[in-house]
Amino acid sequence: MLLCTQTPAHAGLLIRFSHVVAEDTPKGLAAQRFKVLVEQRSQGRITVVVYPGAQLYGDRDEMEALQIGAVEMLAPSLSKFGRLGFPEFELFDLPFLFGNMQEVQIVTTGPVGQKLLAGLARQHLVGLGYLNNGFKQMSGNRPLLEPADFAGLRMRVQASRVIAAQMRALGAYPVALPFSETREALGQNVVRGTENPLSNFWTQNMHTVQTDLSLTNHGYLGYAIVTSERFWLSLNEADRILISRALREALDFGNQIADAQNDKALNALRESATTRVHTLTPAQRTRLRKTVQPVYEQFNHRVGPQWIRDVEKALAR
Ligand code: LMR
Repeated sequence: MLLCTQTPAHAGLLIRFSHVVAEDTPKGLAAQRFKVLVEQRSQGRITVVVYPGAQLYGDRDEMEALQIGAVEMLAPSLSKFGRLGFPEFELFDLPFLFGNMQEVQIVTTGPVGQKLLAGLARQHLVGLGYLNNGFKQMSGNRPLLEPADFAGLRMRVQASRVIAAQMRALGAYPVALPFSETREALGQNVVRGTENPLSNFWTQNMHTVQTDLSLTNHGYLGYAIVTSERFWLSLNEADRILISRALREALDFGNQIADAQNDKALNALRESATTRVHTLTPAQRTRLRKTVQPVYEQFNHRVGPQWIRDVEKALAR
């Protein structure tokens, strides 16, 4: 049912939007913006309830919750779609694929990005758009600047085979864990390091359990906003338009603030003095890049050679 059982007196439409990160992140703030826009424009007829921080559902169960109608919207990272039967999304995890955010935008707003979202229909999902977080950095209890620094390190990763292979190529042991369990696992030394953009690192308080953060910018983290076909088709045309427009604006807003959120987190991190921040020399970055290069060959087949060719074509390489 569309109408939420938690608010039985509610006569309008309810959209429950669940995500796993903190509110003060690009995704958290974009979700809030979406709520404000939808509620204003529908004059309160549509209510959006945002559940941040995996308080309702986390990485393991959120997609099932969407499929059974327990929530209406999610924004999982692109890295989490492979495990759900969409391995082509793991192309975004290929290390050093994108040189900058403009290149990401070219892919997500172009035919490749649209084709990827359309493919979600295979599992009765509707892809409503993309949102950036930014580039990932490596953290640990030592600097991670050279391939040798990763040797034997247990690194928390998202459930992406490409990211796991990237860590293996560096000589580390990847351990897939839900986002909401990561800080604790770091604190208890179940894992010794991880990768994430700065806004996630900071808002999860990972700086209290990691002494070193290395600015590797080695990979991209972004999201796809999804709903279920069942929910989407149950809406009338006017509401679909209202929701799509509000989401477009909220995602544009999220994309605009994403870099600033990461910069803000870096400043806060430097001020906190809990964690040393390391910048790589171009030679160090080149060595990391060379070391993870075999991942492309290894995953060409899983991701799909055509997808990788299409990305390279879009980026005029
Ligand atoms: C992670 O699991 O590391 C990230 O995908 C969390 C997020 O949604 O930003």
